[in-house]
Amino acid sequence: MEIRNTAVLLAAGRGKRMNMEGYKQYLEIQGAPLFTYSLRTLTESPVITDIVITVNEGDEDHMRDLVRQHGLSEKVRAVVHGGAERFLSVYEGLKAVSWPCDFVYVHDSARAFLDRETLLRLDRAVRETGSAVAGVPSKDTVRITDDEGYGLSTPARKNVWIVQTPQVFRLEDILLAHSMAVESLDRLEAEGIQITDDAMVAETMLGIKARMVMASYNNIKVTTQEDLPLAEAILKGPSFR
Ligand code: CTP
Ligand code: MG
Repeated sequence: MEIRNTAVLLAAGRGKRMNMEGYKQYLEIQGAPLFTYSLRTLTESPVITDIVITVNEGDEDHMRDLVRQHGLSEKVRAVVHGGAERFLSVYEGLKAVSWPCDFVYVHDSARAFLDRETLLRLDRAVRETGSAVAGVPSKDTVRITDDEGYGLSTPARKNVWIVQTPQVFRLEDILLAHSMAVESLDRLEAEGIQITDDAMVAETMLGIKARMVMASYNNIKVTTQEDLPLAEAILKGPSFR
């Protein structure tokens, strides 16, 4: 039977670090809202069969209108509102999956420049390993410090990866891991553990060791104003998508 993969496309943030009016997922870049770029790549990819989009509460109709206007409705099965934190938005997206689904591709809409090759590599990896995370090897040396900034260690650069999205898991695994994380919020907080991505939830809750998969140095997260000229340059570049 054919494998069915759902993308959970996250667009329920508030883009505070962009320091602008409105939310960054709707910011127009070269004539189209930021979220439409990765939505188009997901829609055109043979790897993805279904898509859920998470949005801020009250944005559902606005999002559905934009998706329609940009001709991207084909695979969008649900638009749901997210939560106050990124991982809570992921959880809402996962709970909305009410159709057959093998793997879930959790993706930040702020990573507009996802390319089709990365999706193909993730697909090959998860069929083997059951979970995979997009990223790139660090070009910089990374130094681990104590709270005062004094060096504790310097990991071998070949083992240091910059973590991106998509992050891919079996639906039942990542759903269970997130429901456990939500149940354990008080304990996590008491232990000073801050959830930063989905792989961390899967690792902390279920001991899942997701395999890193080479993505692209263009797969940046549009986060601050400084990223905008870079985003324009990537869009104009020869290798986009
Ligand atoms: N996101 C989400 N729900 C949240 C927070 C974030 O769906 N409660 C999404 C954002 O829309 C974004 C992605 O997760 O596509 C990555 O988050 P980030 O880059 O931090 O975006 P924002 O949270 O919107 O920005 P900021 O942290 O600067 O406020
Ligand atoms: Mg954020």
